Amino acid sequence: MKKLSPSAFAQLREKTRLALAGRDPADSYGFVNPPIVRGSTVIYPNMEDFLARKARYTYGTQGNPTIDALIAALNTMEGGAGTVVCPSGLLACTLPMLATLSSGDHFLVTDSVYRPTRHFCDKVLPRMGVEVTYYDPAAGADIAKLFKPNTRAVWTEAPGSQTFEMQDIPAIVAAAHASDILVLMDNTWATPLFFDSHKYGVDLSIQAGTKYYAGHSDVLIGTISARTPELYRQLRETWELLGVIIAPEDAFLTLRGIRTMHIRLKEQMPAGIEMANWFAARPEVARVMHPALPNDPGHDLWKRDFTGASSLFAIELKPVAQKAVGAMLDGLTLFGMGASWGGYESLALPFDCKGYRTATEPDFKGPTIRFHIGLEDLEDLKDDLDAGFARLRAAV
Ligand SMILES: Cc1ncc(COP(=O)(O)O)c(C=O)c1O
Repeated sequence: MKKLSPSAFAQLREKTRLALAGRDPADSYGFVNPPIVRGSTVIYPNMEDFLARKARYTYGTQGNPTIDALIAALNTMEGGAGTVVCPSGLLACTLPMLATLSSGDHFLVTDSVYRPTRHFCDKVLPRMGVEVTYYDPAAGADIAKLFKPNTRAVWTEAPGSQTFEMQDIPAIVAAAHASDILVLMDNTWATPLFFDSHKYGVDLSIQAGTKYYAGHSDVLIGTISARTPELYRQLRETWELLGVIIAPEDAFLTLRGIRTMHIRLKEQMPAGIEMANWFAARPEVARVMHPALPNDPGHDLWKRDFTGASSLFAIELKPVAQKAVGAMLDGLTLFGMGASWGGYESLALPFDCKGYRTATEPDFKGPTIRFHIGLEDLEDLKDDLDAGFARLRAAV
């Protein structure tokens, strides 16, 4: 197999690059995949090299070949200047804040942010002297009205956690960049395959790789891609200073997941949309929150900017007692009740975001449930849910 030049590689289409990135059989004893390299200590050939730290790898916390193989694939997908990886999606959310915010800065955060990210903003950033303001995810260009002279960055997440509000990322980017403000985005839902965040100007693009990248609910990992070399340098410096490193096994498993992610999403996107439409037709359901559905408030933005959808969405039931929801969910046999998503298996989770949103007032009248659609046969999933709705009706 002849090795491609970097420029020839860059000309290839995304699927081909995903099959090739980060592997070179010549470096892997001829095997297809890169080996799992474990190690803390790196041995230098002589004192001169040691004193100058003249080596491709200098110490285990600075990276290693397995992690670099993953990063090569991530850079291919993200199209940014460079990526760092860390041991959870949550850390991939908080690390860019540590890398870019300083005491005295003001930080704007969408009200629909992933809740543990919000906890960090509430509990840690104020201790660092950073002022946090939550804003309505629908703000668009009006975000500029919230800018202060010390606003340093805007946090976006589209669609939002649990309630799936779309955000006008190009409008937010235009307003922010006009005032020298950074835009950070949790792009986990769409993945770079369905939303090219750097192309739309997002400065730091975050993935909970735990979800669709790893794809099998067996790895915790986060990735942050920087749009420019300067931002990458800043991000990488904080990453190194904190000593954030992932296990090579996790890098290997995530790289393995990425090779087939587009195939899984090709199956899961229509599955999610079909199930969302199925829920929308149910008499027990008041609302479905899925931006790919034409009557969703975020549909136009989704259609304009995104090239696909993952299989996570939510529903609002018509008002029923909590015990009826319990009867429905507890008896499901194909939907697990657990946090996270993006694996091959289906999940269902009750949530209530009314208690902690501060910039918006969720207007739900009935209970809300988040669904993740896996790779099971949809007719089996519908049968399971049909029986669940029968239990819900019986318990009312
Ligand atoms: C939107 C979003 N971002 C970040 C995370 C955090 O990922 P992890 O579970 O790997 O910490 C999650 C986890 O559910 C999430 O849903």
